[in-house]
Amino acid sequence: MAINKVGVVGGGLMGHGIAQICAQAGWDVVLREVDDGKVEKAVAMIDKQLSRAVDRGRMEGAAADAVRGRIEGTTDYGRLADCDLVIEAITEDLGLKLEMWKEVDPIVKDGAFLATNTSSLAVIDQAAVTSRPDRFLGLHFFNPAQVMPLLEVVQTVTTSDEALKVGFEVGEVLGKTVVHAKDKTGFIVNRLLVPYMLDAVRAYEEGVGSIEEIDAAMKAGANHPMGPLTLADFVGLDTLVSIGAVMFDEYRERRFAAPPTLRKMVAAGWYGRKSGKGFYDYSGDKPVASELGL
Ligand code: 3HC
Repeated sequence: MAINKVGVVGGGLMGHGIAQICAQAGWDVVLREVDDGKVEKAVAMIDKQLSRAVDRGRMEGAAADAVRGRIEGTTDYGRLADCDLVIEAITEDLGLKLEMWKEVDPIVKDGAFLATNTSSLAVIDQAAVTSRPDRFLGLHFFNPAQVMPLLEVVQTVTTSDEALKVGFEVGEVLGKTVVHAKDKTGFIVNRLLVPYMLDAVRAYEEGVGSIEEIDAAMKAGANHPMGPLTLADFVGLDTLVSIGAVMFDEYRERRFAAPPTLRKMVAAGWYGRKSGKGFYDYSGDKPVASELGL
């Protein structure tokens, strides 16, 4: 089935990036958020990234305008009706996602495909509340979606071969490296990455090194673009705790459990880069390691 129009539900960190790359691929995009303020914020984030691409000479101004012109921001689920594919990127909360699908599934035309960008929840739980579990799949993008090359295409027990093929085609058109993952909590990347980040927090708690030392060590010692604590701030500490909670619930292994320091930081509203404070304080010109003393 040809994809011409894509719906993206949720315009946050992941949703705005997914909407942008879909529009860059030439598809019309409907980006849905809960209120006008959030629609404007999502579109402003896309505008900022497009301007940056033009400034750096990676895109012509006219091409950026065309991309922007293909994106319709809305609060109305009704605008998703004629989409060929709808990707959800809302809060990582199963209850909210199920409520959303119950509302959206009857609106979207027959034959369209539905996908979740969940990072940790089982795809089947969402597929099962729709009228088309055979046309439901996981499309797991990585942050920032505009830059990270990977797309995990997740097949749950009900996902048809046709839907899986669409997932692969979407990844190919978007220029992503596509990996087929089974519907096991965390899929491939988070199964490995989440315990790594949580273990870095434990290493810090145990005094193995300071925040800066742990990050510097993994950057220079393993050639990672970011150290694990910078990466945790980048992913969002609230997100990390909630992914860890889902994975711990599923596997009952300590490596997935959020260490006390992390839980306290989240309780304090320190969500990492997006809130301005996490393992680092982002209020100045350069990030400075936080005084945790927790
Ligand atoms: N949106 C769009 N483009 C962005 C961007 C963003 N948010 N952030 C950076 N970029 C682009 C820049 O425009 C730049 O391109 P240019 O040089 O052509 O202008 C390029 O990326 C490099 O950016 P910078 O020079 O600003 O900075 P870095 O070289 O440090 O790269 C990074 C930034 C790409 C984020 C790099 O640090 C990196 O790869 N970090 C690791 C990210 C990672 O691991 N992500 C996965 C997280 S886990 C996840 O998402 C799963 C989820 O389920 C939790």
